[in-house]
Amino acid sequence: MPQFSQRHLLRLLDFKPNEISALLTLAAKLKKDKKGGCEQPRLTGKNIALIFEKDSTRTRCAFEVAAFDQGARVTYLGPSGSQIGHKESIKDTARVLGRMYDGIQYRGFGQTIVETLAEYSGVPVWNGLTNEFHPTQILADLLTMQEHLPGKDLSEMKLAYLGDARNNMGNSLLEGAALMGIDLRLVAPKACWPDAALVSHCQQVATVTGAKLTLTEDVAQGVNGVDYLYTDVWVSMGEPKEVWKERIALLKSYQVNQAMIELTQNPQVKFLHCLPAFHDDNTVMGKQMAQQYGLQGGMEVTDDVFESGHSIVFDQAENRMHTIKAVMVATLG
Ligand code: CP
Ligand code: NVA
Repeated sequence: MPQFSQRHLLRLLDFKPNEISALLTLAAKLKKDKKGGCEQPRLTGKNIALIFEKDSTRTRCAFEVAAFDQGARVTYLGPSGSQIGHKESIKDTARVLGRMYDGIQYRGFGQTIVETLAEYSGVPVWNGLTNEFHPTQILADLLTMQEHLPGKDLSEMKLAYLGDARNNMGNSLLEGAALMGIDLRLVAPKACWPDAALVSHCQQVATVTGAKLTLTEDVAQGVNGVDYLYTDVWVSMGEPKEVWKERIALLKSYQVNQAMIELTQNPQVKFLHCLPAFHDDNTVMGKQMAQQYGLQGGMEVTDDVFESGHSIVFDQAENRMHTIKAVMVATLG
């Protein structure tokens, strides 16, 4: 078993392929134990700080439920109500929280913020989403992919990610695929490709793991024969509302819809999305978007695909909890 004690999870490349595999195995075991009613609390007496400078449903609930299941306690520090960020620096916050808590989750803006927390807190820090990376999401995605193709190793799987490939999801999928030997196609207009330095770093990792990393603007070529189609919101949290118009124009032809399912030429293809998704006009924001931009019934994915038998997005959402639990158990154990 690899050594995880007191380590941070700031981005996936912090871990080696065998370490990611071990975390996935632990998550699967914890999931089985919970479902079988025989979960053992391994974090009794631990205190965990959850810093959220951006909104969250899944990540917050996953950390809280995972901690409670394991006997730990949490403190939620939301976007307002603490001194963080305005009256007190991240460096001082890290040193204060590190004296009281056994682990810190951070969701918010720049990657340098989680790096500073990790440098000064003296306790494990877990990245629950920054502008650049969303590593705990990818662990859930990998577990979900394993569960839905049980006879296949991750290194035999083909995955296409469509849309904004230079956001935290595109970047993190690139790292995850490089590490686990996946055939990943980032299917997006060039303007939405990840930073060249990150691509080249991941290509180097891929030479060792056997991963195949392709960046293409060609949808038909990119999705051909894939096991999984993945997309994410076209404008991420923290980006100005004004970019919607330009982003829709750029990404409209990368929408995951029934025609794209057919383009994969795989009737069993599965659909993944980290969520939340714009797949209908049922939310306040969805209504506004439909009115303003005329994209009825979905943005990055159409409602018929989202609600179809191809979609495994709620398995993915559930797996956030089991994988985050594995990360906390491994690093605090
Ligand atoms: N996928 C994800 O991180 O969801 P939340 O924003 O709800 O946490
Ligand atoms: N790219 C999205 C992911 C949400 C889980 C965002 O940062 O808003």
